[in-house]
Amino acid sequence: MKEAGKYFFFEKKKQKTFGLLSVALSLLAAPALAQDVSGKDIVLHGNDNGALPCAACHGVNGAGNTSMGAPVLAGLPANMIVQALAQMAQGQGGNEIMQRVAAGLSPAERQAVATYFAGLPKP
Ligand code: HEC
Repeated sequence: MKEAGKYFFFEKKKQKTFGLLSVALSLLAAPALAQDVSGKDIVLHGNDNGALPCAACHGVNGAGNTSMGAPVLAGLPANMIVQALAQMAQGQGGNEIMQRVAAGLSPAERQAVATYFAGLPKP
């Protein structure tokens, strides 16, 4: 009887630990999933598909970089950015690097970075 009580206690503890673990896992999984289409993440870090971090040339705040010829993106309408990216991804407009960057973005990622830049204040 004493043994059974001990076992029961142990099982309960295990269940509780497992419960906490699954909460922790779901908290970890949420940002990981969102990251797939996080505009900010791509802007700051690029993706694994050949898209370089936009911030490296367009600036963290999207203010552009005149010495590189990278235009301002902050505050542009999102649909303009999406359209420019879609065209460059097809080899129309932009330069060779931008065409490669744009081609490395999925349509959802183009939308995500466009929404992110559109939401930044104009410099
Ligand atoms: C290596 C530097 C570099 C990186 C990295 C880069 N860009 Fe560019 N981007 C440029 C340059 C330079 C231009 C101007 C190209 C031209 O028209 O000659 C440009 C142009 C653009 C344009 C066209 C703007 C317009 O008015 O037509 C968009 C949109 C754009 N970039 C978005 C992005 C996004 C989004 C990322 C990140 C996923 C990114 N760029 C990463 C350098 C870069």
